[in-house]
Amino acid sequence: MEKYIINGAKEFSGEIKVSGAKNLALKILPATILSNQECLINNVPEIEDVQRMIEVMTDLGAQIKLQKEHQYLISTKDINKTTLRPDLVKKLRASIMLAGPMLARFGEVTLAHPGGCVIGQRPIDLFLEGFQKLGAQMIENGQTYTLKTKKLKGNKIVLPKISVTVTENLMMAATLAEGTTIIKNAAMEPEIPALAQYLNQNGAKIKGAGTPIITIEGVEKLKASEFNIIPDRIEAGTFIILGLITNSQITVKNCEPEHLENLLYSLGKAQANLEIGKDYIKTLPSQLKSTNITTHEYPGFPTDLQAPFTVLMTQAQGLSLIHETIFEGRLFYTDILNQMGANIIMCDPHRVVVMGPTELYGRSLVSPDLRAGMALILAALIAQGTTTIENVYQINRGYENIVTKLQALGADIKQTNE
Ligand code: EPZ
Repeated sequence: MEKYIINGAKEFSGEIKVSGAKNLALKILPATILSNQECLINNVPEIEDVQRMIEVMTDLGAQIKLQKEHQYLISTKDINKTTLRPDLVKKLRASIMLAGPMLARFGEVTLAHPGGCVIGQRPIDLFLEGFQKLGAQMIENGQTYTLKTKKLKGNKIVLPKISVTVTENLMMAATLAEGTTIIKNAAMEPEIPALAQYLNQNGAKIKGAGTPIITIEGVEKLKASEFNIIPDRIEAGTFIILGLITNSQITVKNCEPEHLENLLYSLGKAQANLEIGKDYIKTLPSQLKSTNITTHEYPGFPTDLQAPFTVLMTQAQGLSLIHETIFEGRLFYTDILNQMGANIIMCDPHRVVVMGPTELYGRSLVSPDLRAGMALILAALIAQGTTTIENVYQINRGYENIVTKLQALGADIKQTNE
């Protein structure tokens, strides 16, 4: 069982480089299925989720070769099957991103329900409804779904709730549909205009990505071309919080401050001292004050930064209300923080109140999910004594070389396999 061993309360300083965005790489790789041409994708983060996506696509017949660090040469011309391997789908919920491109290119895809996870049910009803709106026929067999179509047909799709991956999946599928598709109530996360930019440079006709209404005019074929994955705004935000919670000078490099404006607003309310550059943010020693956050779809406060921010508020003076509006299971890790000495009260599954500042103490922990797991690392870095964190796979899913990056800042952290 792999685990991290962390000795807390060390001095930190230095700089940390943000990797490519997990939640864009997991869409760009599937997007290469929309063309039978070869292409180079750069700045791909070396993380478990990307390796799982490569496994699912390779199983379908795609060739994905690491050319050099962070750069993959991809060809999907030899894909020869349309059933996603169920065991791999269970390991990677984002494998559902293959459905739209497979339907658009091959007219068929079979996938098992990716299943829920600790942060919530994670239903796929909106995906299935959306594909049927585009003319796909759905055959349900227990927890396995087959979608079929001769040719997708453009349509108007009004989403009842904002969903990032539903928006992205339908946008990709619509690029090769006959006629025009309009997606209303679309998500606006920065990864969506980035995905649209990749598709448009390959001949797609997408307008409005990054706004609530996206219009896609179907085309016959798409080419493939070289593309650079944008920096991971969630990793960047996590490292800014790391600098503040350790009260140190840390420069977070290769980040896009514009993608972090709501986090920066809340950190300002918490009286955090930051130096904000064009592509870096430097943390400075601060006397943090409590402040409230409500997670919201972009450009609101990102739900993926809720756990790191909550840990930060355990070190702020006063009482903070954390309101998680998107996922119904994304606050239960606060129990673990209380075992470390935090003072957090759960009002209901969507709201906790944090009283700070509190001293934290090392414990033996298990990482519940990706973002809470990273939040536990932040807590361990400032806790008195030693913390061990098991189930590190959950953290390595989304943070590249996290042990090396933290050691370079002065953290006493190592990974062991016991
Ligand atoms: C994406 O998940 C991200 N994942 C998540 O990041 C992120 O937390 C989330 O968007 C919100 O920003 C990827 O991009 C791979 P949703 P996604 O569909 O698209 C409901 C991380 O830690 N819903 O926007 O799966 C759903 O239950 C991950 O990197 C349906 O009801 O999230 C939720 O309540 C975690 N039916 C709401 O929509 C559906 O068919 C928003 O979820 C689909 C979703």
